[in-house]
Amino acid sequence: MRITILGCGYVGTALARHWRDTSDHQLRLTTTSPERRAELAELADAVHVLEGADAEGLRAALKDSEVAVFSLAPTGTSQVGAEGYEATYLRTFEALERVLPSLPQLRQLIYTGSCSVYGDAGGGWVDETTPPAPRDRHGEILLASERRLQACADGDRRVAILRLGAIYGPGRELAPRFRPLAGSTRAGDGASYTSWIHRDDVVGALAWAVASGLEGIVNLVDDEPLRVRELVERVLTAAGLAPLRWDPGAAPERSPANRRIANRRLHSLGYQLRHPRLDPDA
Ligand SMILES: NC(=O)c1ccc[n+]([C@@H]2O[C@H](COP(=O)([O-])OP(=O)(O)OC[C@H]3O[C@@H](n4cnc5c(N)ncnc54)[C@H](OP(=O)(O)O)[C@@H]3O)[C@@H](O)[C@H]2O)c1
Repeated sequence: MRITILGCGYVGTALARHWRDTSDHQLRLTTTSPERRAELAELADAVHVLEGADAEGLRAALKDSEVAVFSLAPTGTSQVGAEGYEATYLRTFEALERVLPSLPQLRQLIYTGSCSVYGDAGGGWVDETTPPAPRDRHGEILLASERRLQACADGDRRVAILRLGAIYGPGRELAPRFRPLAGSTRAGDGASYTSWIHRDDVVGALAWAVASGLEGIVNLVDDEPLRVRELVERVLTAAGLAPLRWDPGAAPERSPANRRIANRRLHSLGYQLRHPRLDPDA
């Protein structure tokens, strides 16, 4: 199959490597940085240097491709302002919409979106049928981007959106990320739920999405939403580090969105998670 991966960061590069090692797909990759061309050329048949908002660049990168995987994220994600989200996600899908009429062979568009579109549910369960309720401008832009992409679907072209939990895995291990918390005290009770997904399951699910011709929205999280306090405890304990203490009397600056993300649809469609539970050693 002819596939273009747009955005080759943590996920996109791992996906390209996976397909290079296990498939006969013809791969094209994109980067915004000319200096990454040589590194990415080892993983693909061609590398295109472009910003997603560059419609002509997009057209060239997607010419003849049957599948496009969008795995872009603005640099430094959590600190990036709303305008950075607009520039990366919305402007890319607007440009895509403009060039699609000249790309009739492009049959499937896949996007690694985010569970942050759900917002807060007071600790309750949410699934793909739950109306999204972003609680900040970033989430609103991600939702608007999903809708922009969904508008690209027609009888001949499928759109699949994987809503990801927080990613961990090789190079993004949890212990180094939580090490600064060891032995400290944090405001609040840590009772909010978080959902995670291992990088290998993001890669596995993207490959499965292509192989199965996936269409529609699917949550991509592991089987086990964890309260923040359990998550931190599990990781610090596994790393042999001092526990984090919570101070329920002190109000946290900003509590995380509290909801449990259901992955029933992922299971019912047949994807088998490689890491169904958060693995603090992975
Ligand atoms: N990380 C998480 O915990 C998390 C959680 C939920 C959802 N997601 C989603 O998962 C996907 C993959 O995340 P990741 O961790 O692999 O991200 P990443 O490592 O930050 O990689 C994203 C890549 O997007 C490219 N990019 C940035 N701006 C671009 C633009 N304007 N036009 C074209 N390409 C652009 C960059 O490529 P160059 O540097 O080569 O230019 C960058 O390497 C993203 O869609 C993200 O929103 C991530």
